[in-house]
Amino acid sequence: MTAKNTAIIILAAGKGTRMKSKTPKVLHEICGKTMIGHVIDTALSIDSSKIITVVSHGMEDVAGAIKHASSVVIQENQHGTGDAVKPALKELKSFDGNILILYADTPLITHETLAQMMDSLKSSDIVVLGFRPEDPAEYGRLVVNEAGELIKIVEFKDASPSEKKIHLCNSGVIAAKANLLQELVAKINNKNAKGEYYLTDIIGLAQNAGKKCTYVEGDEDEVLGVNNRVQLSEAEYIYQNRLRATAMVEGATLIDPETVYLCHDTRIDSDVIIYPNVTFGKNVWVESGVVIKSFCHIEGARIKSGAVVGPFARLRPGTEIGEEAHIGNFVEIKKSKIGKEVKIGHLSYIGDATVGSNSNIGAGTVTCNYDGYNKYETTIGKGVFVGSNSALVAPVKIGDKAFIGAGSTITKNIEADSLAVARNKQLNKENWAKHFRKKNEKNKL
Ligand code: UD1
Ligand code: CA
Repeated sequence: MTAKNTAIIILAAGKGTRMKSKTPKVLHEICGKTMIGHVIDTALSIDSSKIITVVSHGMEDVAGAIKHASSVVIQENQHGTGDAVKPALKELKSFDGNILILYADTPLITHETLAQMMDSLKSSDIVVLGFRPEDPAEYGRLVVNEAGELIKIVEFKDASPSEKKIHLCNSGVIAAKANLLQELVAKINNKNAKGEYYLTDIIGLAQNAGKKCTYVEGDEDEVLGVNNRVQLSEAEYIYQNRLRATAMVEGATLIDPETVYLCHDTRIDSDVIIYPNVTFGKNVWVESGVVIKSFCHIEGARIKSGAVVGPFARLRPGTEIGEEAHIGNFVEIKKSKIGKEVKIGHLSYIGDATVGSNSNIGAGTVTCNYDGYNKYETTIGKGVFVGSNSALVAPVKIGDKAFIGAGSTITKNIEADSLAVARNKQLNKENWAKHFRKKNEKNKL
């Protein structure tokens, strides 16, 4: 049997009421990627011929988020997991390979575990992913006989006191032979504590039909089901740690890893050093040898090799920092291309700008890029020196190696190699202060 002989069903039709949110549960994010996105990506890592996601009416946003990878079917009413697989199985009527069922609210499952399950399915009819949580709480329990065969799954609400003592729990992930699954799902009834159709009943039914069911054990961290925002934060914590570990294994130094917040797509090359308290938003690429000092917030940016950023810098989407550039404290950069070896050391806002290599942007420089209606560009050439506390009113162009006197408000283009000073001339009056004091002291009451 080839791997292409696998179809994947993802159950996502549950209302997720415990999230108390207007957003469907599976669109909540973990490390910047939706839960359903995580599950889809893991599903895509398994060689399959088809991925079908089950949603309920009104979940157009969910359907939209996954349409690149999965077809979507509707479960009319939420009568339980055994009912949810039915519209997907209808699409798979003539399919006789293996079916893997995933839950969209169990987003941390790994490729390795799923591959292990598919492997185990070669020698059995159904494979369930079990785990042994510290607190088995209300998870379904796997009932295993002395020979180690899985004979049934009992839901917590239907379990006897002795069954409740079982520590081996059901993660929800199931792999089964397609034909058998079709046959068994048709036989599920809703005679149980919740009055629902439990997918988990297929194990008992398979056992009665003389089929072989088995289980694979996963890690508790992998099978965490997200039903509320406490569990969402637990999932975030687990996934953050995975991302941090990967970054470090790939050659980045995270001085205090737990204080560095990564995004699922953060790319960090080798020999990067990240100090404590740094947050990465979506779409960041940090090239090798970069140093990011404490308290930086970085999103949608590429930082080229050897640059030093922070402490206290904010890089916003559309920013590129050139090789060996220095971006210092309280500097905000938005949608700008900063050249090689540029220095923007202190207290600046650079937006919609291009800064040529080797330019020095003085403390307190502001690109005035917005007039309340439109955004305008500032183009700064190579080797330019912008004096401290300058306002560059866009659109404006500053030629290579030009020099701007401190405190200037620049509204006109500046030619290369020129000096621009745009402030009032300084007036010095000799002994003025002395006379001023004298006059006032005499008149003092
Ligand atoms: C389920 C399992 C339980 C297991 C636990 C693991 C059953 C009967 N129980 O319980 O054994 O320990 O997961 O987390 O399967 N869904 C639908 N349509 C429905 C109902 C649910 O699509 O009508 C989807 C949900 O969106 C969710 C998944 O199925 O992705 C699981 O549903 P949920 O109600 O959360 O099941 P649990 O009570 O957690
Ligand atoms: Ca659940």
